[in-house]
Amino acid sequence: MKAFLQTLLDQTIDLLKQDGTIPADLQPRFQIDHPKDKAHGDLATNLAMVLAKPARTSPRLLAENIIARLPKSALIRKAEIAGPGFINVFLDPLWLAIQVERSLADPRLGVPLAESPQRVVVDYSSPNLAKEMHVGHLRSTIIGDAMARTLSFLGHQVVRQNHVGDWGTQFGMLLAHMEEVRQGGKSPKMQLSDLEGFYRQAKERFDSSEPFADRARQLVVELQSGDSYCRKLWQEFLEISLSHCQQVYDRLNVLLERDDVVGESFYNDELPQVVADLEEAGLLTVDQEAKCVFLDEFKGQDDAPLPMIVQKKDGGYLYATTDLAAIRYRKRVLNAERILYFVDVRQSLHFQQLFAVARKAGFATEATSLEHMGFGTVMGDDGKPFKTRSGGTVKLADLLDEAEQRAGQLVRAKNPELPEEELAKIGRVVGIASVKYADLSKNRSSDYLFSFDHMISFEGDTAPYLLYAYTRVASIFRKGGLDNQVLTGNVLLNEEVEFDLAGKLVQFGEVLGRVAERGYRDYLCGYLYDLSGIFSSFYKNCPVLTCEDPAIRHSRLMLSQLTAKVLHQGLDLLGIETLERM
Ligand code: ARG
Repeated sequence: MKAFLQTLLDQTIDLLKQDGTIPADLQPRFQIDHPKDKAHGDLATNLAMVLAKPARTSPRLLAENIIARLPKSALIRKAEIAGPGFINVFLDPLWLAIQVERSLADPRLGVPLAESPQRVVVDYSSPNLAKEMHVGHLRSTIIGDAMARTLSFLGHQVVRQNHVGDWGTQFGMLLAHMEEVRQGGKSPKMQLSDLEGFYRQAKERFDSSEPFADRARQLVVELQSGDSYCRKLWQEFLEISLSHCQQVYDRLNVLLERDDVVGESFYNDELPQVVADLEEAGLLTVDQEAKCVFLDEFKGQDDAPLPMIVQKKDGGYLYATTDLAAIRYRKRVLNAERILYFVDVRQSLHFQQLFAVARKAGFATEATSLEHMGFGTVMGDDGKPFKTRSGGTVKLADLLDEAEQRAGQLVRAKNPELPEEELAKIGRVVGIASVKYADLSKNRSSDYLFSFDHMISFEGDTAPYLLYAYTRVASIFRKGGLDNQVLTGNVLLNEEVEFDLAGKLVQFGEVLGRVAERGYRDYLCGYLYDLSGIFSSFYKNCPVLTCEDPAIRHSRLMLSQLTAKVLHQGLDLLGIETLERM
């Protein structure tokens, strides 16, 4: 019960911070107690008395404000002010018990579908295909995927778009190198199994040989003019590079498929039209022979206006031009009502300019929501962006190998008796889950420290902890011979911890709503972690299978079953596989 009210009060405190009633950095310490006298309600808190001073108001006035802002919950029968400013809360446990019964009977676990479903384009992963996916692509890929899954679950129509970098001058260099490899009698396919090495060699050739560099530049021109030999070579390169990405997606249990790839090159033919549209809207200025859009909102140093360049002096188009074409397409052809970009926060300015220009040009209307869901950098122990020991970028595939191997060791140490094959599977699931969860559970916009030691551990807010909690619930059903049977009947909430567990379980829908709104999938992680914690105390304090009273035993089984289902569904929305034992 306390935990339930705590969550509601935490949300209220956030609201008070947002509107400036209390300082944003305040971390109030307040109490929630059970009043001795039932006439004073089921729970009481001194929050208003604690916050009155920083809010510069009287406790009773603030208490009124808090009650008004307390998120609506049918569980709260009423809340009243008492004495100098206590808030007494009266709960309705019967309502809560009924919610648990209903959620269990509902395949959606009591989570309502969105009232007005939207068509949402989710732009995520989007690596540059010239190189192999590296650790920088991890966040976009898994955060975007969790968001796409959550939105679909809530009934939105999700269109995934993998806006890969498959165009531009680097490809000239790569194609020239492919040509040479082939002339040397080797198969480019073999050579490209190490895409990173291939890129390095091409770059070395480009920097050291004038004829090679000339050939590379010539190939770019031919590629752009649609020369068929060049296109074929390029296509071959892309196929190999995309198959590397697909391997990573499959390993990561990410939903992206080949059909979701709509890369930069896709918009090629539309770029002249985009520039013409900008011209027609009166937005173009020629500055040092380049075509630019200047908007008053964007000023650089010394208040100098900041351009968004859309066509270079030599006629070439840029990243921004392609992105404008993409918005135009997503609105006109894909009918997007909301477009989400999961891209590094360091590209914030690009997206601010992009959205402003797209609206001015009419590529998106006021009704189209354009949202940059920026994320921070993955840092190493040294406080700098995460690198290999020798200072190179960390290939995603290598990172996943290491995670699987470390998780395998951990699991083997815990369960030496399990057969080798099962250990390998558990190690794989735990390793990938650890990497994903460590990322998903962090605040999206901040940087975070990458540490195998922290993420692959049974202690703390980690994937192994959650997966283990799930196996524990699952084992109750295995032991009780109750697999796959949906339980019906009455839920009884007699013990404090049963009440807490039920209170947490019914918050699932609300948590998902918050994720869908702002992409804060860390709320979902926090929720699942809290749920596992409450379940642990429940499991310790309330015997389930050994409970002698059949009605209570049945009710506890129902609570356990809903916990298992919510954990399973929640982890699935994060793209994390569960295990039946580990
Ligand atoms: N390929 C870009 C990069 O690696 C990310 C593209 C993100 N999506 C977009 N529509 N700009 O930085």
